[in-house]
Amino acid sequence: MCGIVGYIGDKNSVPILISGLKRLEYRGYDSAGISVLDSDRCSIIKSKGKVSILEKKVIEHKLNGTVGIGHTRWATHGEPNEINAHPHSNEDGTLTLIHNGIIENYSTLKKTLQKRGVTFKSETDSEVIVHLIDSFLKKGHNFFQSVRYALNSLEGTYGVAVIYSKEPDKIIVARKGSPLVIGIGDEENFIASDVNAIVAYTSQVVYLEDDEIAEIYRDRFNARTIKDIEAVKEVVELEMAADEVDKGGFEHFMLKEIMEQPESVFNAMRGRLLFEDGISKLGGLKGFEQKIADSERIIISACGTSWHAALVGEYMLEQFCEVPVEVDYASEFRYRNPIIKKTDTLIFISQSGETADTLAAMREAKRKGALVLGVCNVVGSSIARESQAGVYIHAGPEIGVASTKAFTAQLIVLALITLMVGRHKSLSLVDGQNIIREIQSLPEKIKKILSLNSEIEKIAEKFKDAKNFLYLGRGYNFPVALEGALKLKEISYIHAEGYPAAEMKHGPIALIDENMPAVFIAPKDSVYDKVISNIEEVRARKGRIIAIASENDNKIDSLVEYSIKIPDTIRMLMPILSVIPLQMLAYHIAVKRGLNVDQPRNLAKSVTVE
Ligand code: M6R
Repeated sequence: MCGIVGYIGDKNSVPILISGLKRLEYRGYDSAGISVLDSDRCSIIKSKGKVSILEKKVIEHKLNGTVGIGHTRWATHGEPNEINAHPHSNEDGTLTLIHNGIIENYSTLKKTLQKRGVTFKSETDSEVIVHLIDSFLKKGHNFFQSVRYALNSLEGTYGVAVIYSKEPDKIIVARKGSPLVIGIGDEENFIASDVNAIVAYTSQVVYLEDDEIAEIYRDRFNARTIKDIEAVKEVVELEMAADEVDKGGFEHFMLKEIMEQPESVFNAMRGRLLFEDGISKLGGLKGFEQKIADSERIIISACGTSWHAALVGEYMLEQFCEVPVEVDYASEFRYRNPIIKKTDTLIFISQSGETADTLAAMREAKRKGALVLGVCNVVGSSIARESQAGVYIHAGPEIGVASTKAFTAQLIVLALITLMVGRHKSLSLVDGQNIIREIQSLPEKIKKILSLNSEIEKIAEKFKDAKNFLYLGRGYNFPVALEGALKLKEISYIHAEGYPAAEMKHGPIALIDENMPAVFIAPKDSVYDKVISNIEEVRARKGRIIAIASENDNKIDSLVEYSIKIPDTIRMLMPILSVIPLQMLAYHIAVKRGLNVDQPRNLAKSVTVE
């Protein structure tokens, strides 16, 4: 986690660093800090908490400098305080460093350095890097070689940026396991953990690969491998607009992203549906279609919300593609002995494309010889680049820590993959065309659901003080129950559990009383009657019930306290609709509890540590 940004050019770097850090705050917001080169020394300002606190300090100190680096932290080693905030510096303050990642051998390195008389200020693992670099400088090596030698001694992951007042014409950056992108400007260059931080200044970027190190000057850069071999880099043109990462008049990114779903869902399907042939066309899977269709097994792996999307994908692929599907938590994948065969296809789903667990699981599957596909949102992310083939979900930047529009766009892509594989197998033209028609109707149906916003806000008011929540659904809507519960707990801090509705009677029913709200996802589908029986069981025990129901369902109103009516669609696509009221409910409850929905406590948007 953690966000890194840097600037070298003719302008004052400080406002550029602060605005970049604000855009990276979703990666961590425990503390923030910047360092700028100012004549012959590195000036550092740090603060505990959000970038806005740092910003005030920076203005008070009138900090100025044309070369600078900045960091926003998600704490791993050492509590979130000012001392542990980055940048870290060597003893004479000539060298400063920011780091995203974890140095696994830091305690051995720290002991060695301490024996040599180095004094450490912080409890972080990151501080060892700056002292190590300093030790090589003291041996007479130049800045670049000192950084390179230091990095060669590290075990773990890093995205680092370093500045040195005795070589003030450059920033040195390197990457291993943590993302780093270089932004190319006109007589100025930028560095960042992701393009959101620099898209306002340039659309030309270069992605650094693992084990690469680069010297960034104001007018050029040189990239090499950590073993000191020249690295040939390609400049990529970004398609993203700077205003895509603004709140666009909404109070929170999360609300903006919920409201964007008619467009993001449309963008995920745009140009990918061939109605005449009843099939989908996915450019990123070109040449692999038959191999995927011939797989003996499909394994989908992901974390968090993306894992919930994977569960829906399992239902879709098994219903239409006659292929056994397994879903695995990426964080567990490596810690057993997954039986992976060359005839398997593995799909790794990740909004950020940088989740450490998902990336590591993908690398393990690749090593075992299976076909490895990525389903990502962030273009050029590690999972997107390292997978053999893949599909972008085109949801646009998702900044709110709670994933919303990425989930529904992931489900569209999984539906498109299902359609493609199904049509290579026994799915008929008519059935394929029916699925396409239903997919195409989704943006309008989503608009209808979004128009229920103020109705859902009123329901949120009634339940905002609840201590616990149960979310219950069956079949395709079981993963939606899990997702609804995750949304609520991560932003409102209310304990919530998602369950298959029929599992309730095997234990959770003991929790039901007049204080326990239960949210049922109960559209009129093949399991509707069974879900109604489960609703009756909660009613009999005086539980409070909110139902997500079909718009033509009048019967349910007499059984529940509140119903939220949504349009119908085919079963495989229902989660794309039924999840949206749950996103809105969680959002409004969190706002009413006075919480920061975009930056919930203890969380970060992309979890780039294990
Ligand atoms: O970027 P990814 O999709 O790989 O992220 C996976 C999870 O960390 C993420 O979905 C997380 O659970 C969200 N905070 C959920 O809202």
